[in-house]
Amino acid sequence: MTKAIRYDKTGGPEVMKWVDVDVGEPGEGEVRLRQSACGLNYIDVYFRTGLYPQPLPAGLGMEAAGEVTAVGSGVSALKVGDRVAYVARPPGAYAQERVLRADLVIKLPDAISDEAAASIMLQGLTAQYLLRRTYRVKAGDTILIQAAAGGVGLLVCQWAKALGATVIGTVGSDEKAAIAKAHGCDHPIVYTREDFTARVREITNGAGVPVVYDSIGKDTYAKSLDCLAPLGMFVSFGNASGPLPPIDSSEFAGRGSLFFTRPTLFTYMGKRADYEAMAAELFDVVSSGKVKTSINQRYALKDVGQAHADLEARKTTGSTVLIP
Ligand SMILES: NC(=O)c1ccc[n+]([C@@H]2O[C@H](COP(=O)([O-])OP(=O)(O)OC[C@H]3O[C@@H](n4cnc5c(N)ncnc54)[C@H](OP(=O)(O)O)[C@@H]3O)[C@@H](O)[C@H]2O)c1
Repeated sequence: MTKAIRYDKTGGPEVMKWVDVDVGEPGEGEVRLRQSACGLNYIDVYFRTGLYPQPLPAGLGMEAAGEVTAVGSGVSALKVGDRVAYVARPPGAYAQERVLRADLVIKLPDAISDEAAASIMLQGLTAQYLLRRTYRVKAGDTILIQAAAGGVGLLVCQWAKALGATVIGTVGSDEKAAIAKAHGCDHPIVYTREDFTARVREITNGAGVPVVYDSIGKDTYAKSLDCLAPLGMFVSFGNASGPLPPIDSSEFAGRGSLFFTRPTLFTYMGKRADYEAMAAELFDVVSSGKVKTSINQRYALKDVGQAHADLEARKTTGSTVLIP
């Protein structure tokens, strides 16, 4: 027997229970992992609250790192003892051990520790596709990232800066502004106090930005659109404050032929070759020091309720790992 988090009804952090589970042996094409660190992500909150439904009872958590402890038939790319990490559906990463498909797992280079991997697989692969594929940031661009001091936010700030962009980022407090600034955000804006649209117009001499990466959703949607230059791209990649209102296409015409996209990591990493290439690029920018991991909170996995409460209360910065 081993332990994992399960929930059988949606609700507050208290619905998550630390229970005994039997993971069994890996079948054909599968591996069993002993996990040493799990990542905490906002999507875990969406599943727990029911914003993203799934059949219950179910597990939670999308990413973890650890060691291969058993290999099923037909698996040649991995062996017992390999250090690996993954981002995978369905949720279930909040666990001491796990059996999953071998093609969902990526081998870790020596330079990336298990904890570092658990802190960047989901958020770092997201930063990769947002900056390199959804809107390809180039030197000289000025970009806006919402929640710049968060998990995805700090990675995006550093990576965009390394690409030669000027980074404008919104944050909920002065402490978070200082953290964002120390991670490459040239212009942190405390949006709980300042009008971020007016500040973006001021910083860009009225021009607006070519891309807004918005993970806040309901509370920032309309004002984010007002930050865009004509032909700019609104990238709606999350809904920490709640889902967007129904989209009115005239809003996009009236502001100058804007583009709208609602990307998901699982689309971008859907092909194994893309998943591997994205992970390789992520490990490379982290190993080179251009992008640093920020594990600013650690909790025992059995205390994940507190971790969710802190994430939802906007008390966390950077990334959080859960130790099983
Ligand atoms: N589409 C994708 O592929 C994808 C992948 C990964 C993550 N995401 C999304 O990216 C966002 C960031 O994820 P993360 O795990 O790195 O979380 P995070 O940014 O570390 O935490 C969320 C942050 O959102 C801000 N926020 C603003 N209004 C909020 C509200 N009403 N309630 C709670 N937080 C609020 C808070 O920062 P301030 O206090 O500074 O406002 C908070 O710290 C999430 O929306 C997530 O769903 C999407």
